[in-house]
Amino acid sequence: MRLLHQSEAEAKKLALVASRTENIVIITDPQGRIEWVNDAFTRVTEYTLQEVHGATPGSFLRGPETDQETVPYMRERLSKGEGFEVEVINYSKSGRKYWVQIKVQPIYEISGELTGFTAIESDVTERKRAEEELHLRDRAMGAAAEGIVISDPNQPDNPLVYVNDGFERLTGYSRQEILGRNCRFLQGRGTDPAALEHIRECIRERRECLVELLNYRKDGTPFWNRLSIAPLRDAKGRLTHFVGVQSDITARKLAEERLAAANAEILASNNRMKRELEAAAIVQQSLLPTLLPRMEGVEFAWLFKPSAELAGDQLNVMQLDDAQVALYLLDVSGHGVASSLMAVAANLLLSRKVDSPSPESDEPLGGPVPTVTSPADTAMLLNQQFPREKTAGQYLTLVFGMLNVKSGEFRYVAAGHPGPVVVRKDAPPSALEAPTALPIGLFPASYEERSVQLCRGDRIYLYTDGITEAMNASGDEFGVPRLLFQLSELQVLPLDQTLNALMESLEEWRCHECLRDDVSLVALEWKK
Ligand SMILES: Cc1cc2nc3c(=O)[nH]c(=O)nc-3n(C[C@H](O)[C@H](O)[C@H](O)COP(=O)(O)O)c2cc1C
Repeated sequence: MRLLHQSEAEAKKLALVASRTENIVIITDPQGRIEWVNDAFTRVTEYTLQEVHGATPGSFLRGPETDQETVPYMRERLSKGEGFEVEVINYSKSGRKYWVQIKVQPIYEISGELTGFTAIESDVTERKRAEEELHLRDRAMGAAAEGIVISDPNQPDNPLVYVNDGFERLTGYSRQEILGRNCRFLQGRGTDPAALEHIRECIRERRECLVELLNYRKDGTPFWNRLSIAPLRDAKGRLTHFVGVQSDITARKLAEERLAAANAEILASNNRMKRELEAAAIVQQSLLPTLLPRMEGVEFAWLFKPSAELAGDQLNVMQLDDAQVALYLLDVSGHGVASSLMAVAANLLLSRKVDSPSPESDEPLGGPVPTVTSPADTAMLLNQQFPREKTAGQYLTLVFGMLNVKSGEFRYVAAGHPGPVVVRKDAPPSALEAPTALPIGLFPASYEERSVQLCRGDRIYLYTDGITEAMNASGDEFGVPRLLFQLSELQVLPLDQTLNALMESLEEWRCHECLRDDVSLVALEWKK
């Protein structure tokens, strides 16, 4: 009787535990039909005992994502009266999905008869979610193109404890070969000691670092490794691991090296070209008049300011005979080598034309050159020397004048060039008419010439449009009226000083900015 009371009391205690536990408890008959469930069952599944009594749990807890292979497995074990343990997706009454771990035990009487099953179940949704997240991260690390490694600095020599597929692909080593080793096995000849020292320092100081260093694959081929290392800490801030990410930047490094080599080559050829241009400029400037003709009753001056190393302007003053002197100024379209070559060629032709050619002298460019007879003929002959087919689209403008020093008659031609300016001693200055608009080197043409009679003290100026087209900060051109005004104001100065003074006011107008175009001037004063 006492024994009976004792087992009844224990049964009551067990029933109390079963009903109050956090875990779901289900008791079924031998066919697996529900006879009893505890409160946790109702809390998780949202079904009461009345609702599910007599039903098998699977008949109402399963849903679309319940693993189809687990169900027949459970059925088979139950039919054999055997226990089992599974994890499966279930659905609550309202359709909420959850993972449940199920442990089923059969209940046998001492006689060996199966009287039912007990199932103890726990909701493992959180754990499953964490596992899935971990699995996802693992897959992501595996799929990454970069190498990803983890080392354990708490073990001797900081060995690798994880490497991803990317690292295997990058280095050619398999996991088995490298786990447990320090990552320095990738280094070799040419690995920068300064980069290694930087890594050592960062590891010592437990901070992150980023280096680019030469590494070697298993097959011995080198590659440039962009390596970033970062410390990993636990919740208490203690260092647990280092994570390293390796990217192959060989292609970029090679491109950089090629670019640097190409840059060095460009720089060298640029310097060579610069030296050549400087030498060419010296040769070009040597063609400028060094000695001006000394003739009684006339004075000359010139000024030349190139905008770049090689100018497109050329000028000269040449004595033709006892009475005649020629002066000219030419301006080739554009700048640079082609323009300057054309300017030099034209200058040589013009100089040769006015020189008396000696029979044994070499023929200049383009064949024999007749001597100058008049400004108009000179322009026409020069135009014949530069037919369009030979000038590659370039042309030049020319102002060419001849002064009879005895009579003071000044004849001139302007081919696509501004006409000369005459500054009279006793009358206002004026820009002389330029009757021919056509430059030299475009089409066959004849050129009209004009003449003007000078009086004692009158001055003639030939100029290039580098002066009149020079702009100030507001975009206004210096212009012909300002040129005339300046030259008449400067009349009090000796001839050569007027050129420098004009240049100064031009500089002022342009706010001392670099010249955009060459500036050239040739001037004479008739003093007879
Ligand atoms: C996580 C991690 C990854 C590393 N990955 C590389 C690597 O890819 N290539 C390399 O040359 N060194 C790598 N190192 C650096 C070497 O393991 C080592 O720290 C370096 O050679 C300097 O130390 P030592 O003087 O002991 O060799 C890595 C280090 C760590 C901690």
